[in-house]
Amino acid sequence: AAGDAAAGEKVAKKCLACHDLSDAKANKVGPALFGVAGGSMGTVDGFKYSDDFLAAAKAAGTWDEAALMAYLEDPTAYVRDKAGDPKARSKMTFKLKDEKDRQDVIAYLMTLK
Ligand code: HEM
Repeated sequence: AAGDAAAGEKVAKKCLACHDLSDAKANKVGPALFGVAGGSMGTVDGFKYSDDFLAAAKAAGTWDEAALMAYLEDPTAYVRDKAGDPKARSKMTFKLKDEKDRQDVIAYLMTLK
């Protein structure tokens, strides 16, 4: 992986408004992210995903580095692509545009297990 997990821990502060990253695995506006990287899309217990996100999850599969790079750059574009529906939306409206920030935060997420 190209990312720097220590730098990614700082980038991850941007996620905390909506996501719990701790091993308490609390769902907030977004699903708990502990253990999500490397696992299957859309499978956090007790979180109510959007229908469009779940349609994408059926086609997508695993949150590997490439999938997370694409999703974090533009969640709605990712969901549209995977769901095959040009009108689909992700409930996650936040975009992480900077490529290095994405690599770093993904490296950090991969340590949360
Ligand atoms: C979903 C990562 C920031 C709201 C997700 C998922 C990931 C993710 C990996 C899919 C999880 C799964 O498959 O269970 C991140 C990261 C962030 C970030 C790394 C910071 C860099 C945010 C922010 C918000 C947000 C700031 C709110 C403003 C959501 C919501 C979903 C979601 C609502 C569920 C999407 C749906 O049901 O359509 N996020 N997120 N996220 N995130 Fe984020």
